[in-house]
Amino acid sequence: MRKIIITIDGYSSCGKSTVAKQLARKLDYVYIDSGAMYRAITLYFLQNRIDWTSTPAVVEALKNIHLEFVPNTHTGTADMFLNDENVEHLIREMLVAEKVSEVAAVKEVREFAVAQQVKMGVRKGIVMDGRDIGTVVFPHAELKIFMTADITIRVQRRFKELYAKNPNITIDEVKQNLELRDYIDANREISPLRKAEDAIILDNSHLTMEDQLALVMQWVEDAIMAHSS
Ligand code: CDP
Ligand code: CDP
Repeated sequence: MRKIIITIDGYSSCGKSTVAKQLARKLDYVYIDSGAMYRAITLYFLQNRIDWTSTPAVVEALKNIHLEFVPNTHTGTADMFLNDENVEHLIREMLVAEKVSEVAAVKEVREFAVAQQVKMGVRKGIVMDGRDIGTVVFPHAELKIFMTADITIRVQRRFKELYAKNPNITIDEVKQNLELRDYIDANREISPLRKAEDAIILDNSHLTMEDQLALVMQWVEDAIMAHSS
């Protein structure tokens, strides 16, 4: 069957990576979590005390950053490696979440990440999730999905994930972080989070994982049909 590019953009913690992984598994496509790249860059900046408000400092630091997605046979997805170190767990921590949207708003950071993301799509057969994938990275993607879910549901979902690793985390902390990131992501100057004109909206507030997969698989089949002539 003809391979296509599927983009999934949307707000924080609405289930983008869950749908993306479901699709990649079902279709035998590559799944790329573009947010992991911004998180890894943020981790490097924090660890090395890089001032991301200084363009020369950012340009110099980016020269020392090597990002790689390494398949993990245990999880069936890929782990983010930063300069040959597996940082998959570190990049999900609150310290990174608190700063990632500031770092991701920096022009040079976006150019660095987007250039690598574009290359990953040359052979198609890819599902990539993020904030600007349908608008900037793959504006000609065959299927674009824009995801959303109620903020209270998104907060509960992310809280559950983080609490399992850190019982000191509070609901308020998670809510504030999601709201702040959504605000910065949607209002930044470069590639703000917005729905591509040709994206289909998926509100999964009240959908089970099975329901959402069935719905999205229908869109995939339609997109493949529409682009196979
Ligand atoms: O998983 P979650 O929705 O919490 O976020 P993520 O996908 O890991 O992305 C973390 C942050 O990276 C976002 O809040 C954005 O600031 C940034 N990001 C971006 O600017 N562009 C992308 N394509 C992906 C993520
Ligand atoms: O990638 P993004 O930040 O948009 O969200 P995610 O990491 O895929 O999903 C956040 C959490 O919501 C995960 O723990 C999922 O298991 C959960 N989820 C859910 O409970 N119901 C859905 N329909 C989709 C996701």
